[in-house]
Amino acid sequence: LTDHTGRAVTQADFAGRFLLLYFGFTYCPDVCPTELGTIAAAMDDLGTQAARVTPVLISIDPERDTPAALSDYVSRFHPAMVGLTGSPEQVAAAARAYRVFYAKVQRPDMTEYTMDHSSFIYLVGPDGRVRALFRPQTAPEAIAEAVRGQLRGA
Ligand code: NI
Repeated sequence: LTDHTGRAVTQADFAGRFLLLYFGFTYCPDVCPTELGTIAAAMDDLGTQAARVTPVLISIDPERDTPAALSDYVSRFHPAMVGLTGSPEQVAAAARAYRVFYAKVQRPDMTEYTMDHSSFIYLVGPDGRVRALFRPQTAPEAIAEAVRGQLRGA
């Protein structure tokens, strides 16, 4: 995948770090901004412990989400947030790895397409394995608490 600065990255670039990972897209009208705001609030709640955590948005709309578009977008939520995009195949492989569903939706009354997508926040451990899965509308405090629990054990 390519990050929001245009750099090619793999899972190895995140080795040893905890991730708060979300799959979404910058054109999303409501759900994605809400969940990314939740991740940012959880990071703030973690205080100095947030230094061990990277918030990550993987775009499931690579057609529109260029690195430049992601750069503008992620910086609105949190200074540490990383945006990732790639070819449709690369994004599909990443989504498959986390069992993320997404699909393009185009209705006659819409000038632009939108994306349907599942909306879970993943807490990924330093070993790359998923440690926890948070449903939509989980409170930031609950996420921060779960991260603290994992950090204690790490
Ligand atoms: Ni969304």
